[in-house]
Amino acid sequence: MKFFIDTADIKEIRELNEMGLVDGVTTNPSLILKSGGKIDEVTREICDIVSGPVSAEVTATDYKGMMAEAKVLAKIADNVAIKVPLTLDGLKACKAIRSEGRMVNVTLCFSANQALLAAKAGASFISPFVGRLDDIGIEGMDLISEIRQIYDNYDFQTEILVASVRSVNHVKDAALIGADVATVPPAILRALVKHPLTDKGLEAFLADWAKTGQKIA
Ligand code: E4P
Repeated sequence: MKFFIDTADIKEIRELNEMGLVDGVTTNPSLILKSGGKIDEVTREICDIVSGPVSAEVTATDYKGMMAEAKVLAKIADNVAIKVPLTLDGLKACKAIRSEGRMVNVTLCFSANQALLAAKAGASFISPFVGRLDDIGIEGMDLISEIRQIYDNYDFQTEILVASVRSVNHVKDAALIGADVATVPPAILRALVKHPLTDKGLEAFLADWAKTGQKIA
């Protein structure tokens, strides 16, 4: 499973990328607001660091407006994936942008039927929001299983990009189901490495090593 990071924080992206953990980046208008930067400048900076897909979201809600914004965003770098909302205009824009050879991430997916439509429109990525479903008492991971089954039934090539990830268990469950990508906030990506037995074991090894009085040189 690929890891995208769900942030527009340049420092975080740089650090995690150096660890080899970043296959791509997703941003959205809220993350751009949090970064305090301008969408074109922030996206360009991210694309200079990460060579994989970097999602940048349109904010127009009509087809013509989305296409005009997509044109601007696409000029930033070749690895910009245009993010469009899961609406009829968004699906129309998805089809048109894909026909120009550009990656498209269809976002704000909350049902299997929506994911089916996005695949039929040729989306490169579908972004089902698991955390926001959990928030309203619906098991977000069930949606990932449903989409996996539907895409496999018909051999759709659209990649399932698990979004709105809120916990380390979301990441594990996404991988068990066979999602293609999880887009993970930096804090959760860092939390994946943690295990109390790793810390305890390391502490014991270091204590014994100190008693040997040796140095590796
Ligand atoms: C990513 O593409 C989504 O915009 C993001 O994961 C949404 O996460 P949130 O529900 O925590 O805002």
